[in-house]
Amino acid sequence: MNFPIGVFDSGVGGLSILQALRTELPQADFIYIADSGHAPYGERDAAHVRARSQAVAAHLVQQNIGALVVACNTATAAAINELRADYPLLPIIGVEPALKPATLLSRTRRIGVMATRSTLASARFRLLLEPLAGQAEFVLQPCDGLADAIEQAVHAPQGSEDAMKIIAACARHTRAMGTFGLNNGEIDTLVLGCTHYPFASPALREILGAQVQLVDTGAPVARQTRLRLGAKAAGGSGQLRLLTTGQASTLQAAVQRWLQLDSTVTMLRVE
Ligand code: DGL
Repeated sequence: MNFPIGVFDSGVGGLSILQALRTELPQADFIYIADSGHAPYGERDAAHVRARSQAVAAHLVQQNIGALVVACNTATAAAINELRADYPLLPIIGVEPALKPATLLSRTRRIGVMATRSTLASARFRLLLEPLAGQAEFVLQPCDGLADAIEQAVHAPQGSEDAMKIIAACARHTRAMGTFGLNNGEIDTLVLGCTHYPFASPALREILGAQVQLVDTGAPVARQTRLRLGAKAAGGSGQLRLLTTGQASTLQAAVQRWLQLDSTVTMLRVE
């Protein structure tokens, strides 16, 4: 494809999707925007998230993108309909909590869903959940503070105070959901319904043990993007441009830590 793929999130969380996209489409060029200057999205009202998503998408469209990946569950829930109406010819791929795949994986039929308050309150999430209600019991947990803790700990070494805040938030939220395990009545499958949360997987594993299945959406979203691009998926030269409305050093550290890339981050104002 001669055009880059635009990807955005409220911050560093969308890097979990970008990572999967780069694996699926190694030649494609990407422009990633972290809207950290206006984060977190998950505890703001839908109108704020919609306005930010439209502003960030408009900036990406000006860069001649060939597709847009909304690498944020909260922004997908609040704004994907509007984005598709704004750009009817642009392939726009969203991210939603993997409820259906989780019903196929769960044996106890009790599934935990960690997501932002805004995602869980959205009409789009209700539409996703309703048809599956007879197939499993879903325990929904709004994880206030977790995405923010992940952002704050990007520079933090293991065991540091900031890193411990992720463990504390995961412990608090999973405790509120009930008992995890493989026995009847226990939650055996946990949906990570926010793109930040895969970066808390080590903490969740430590708390829940190895047998609970963690389900995220990086790989299926990347596959879906490749399918939507069709023949155009083959082009590009593997370039990555990183932009942020917040601190350049945060995105830079996150990319280094999680994508093992030393890339320059440019600061950006998107009003
Ligand atoms: N990464 C975003 C998501 O997938 C939300 C994080 C935030 O609250 O800003 O929902």
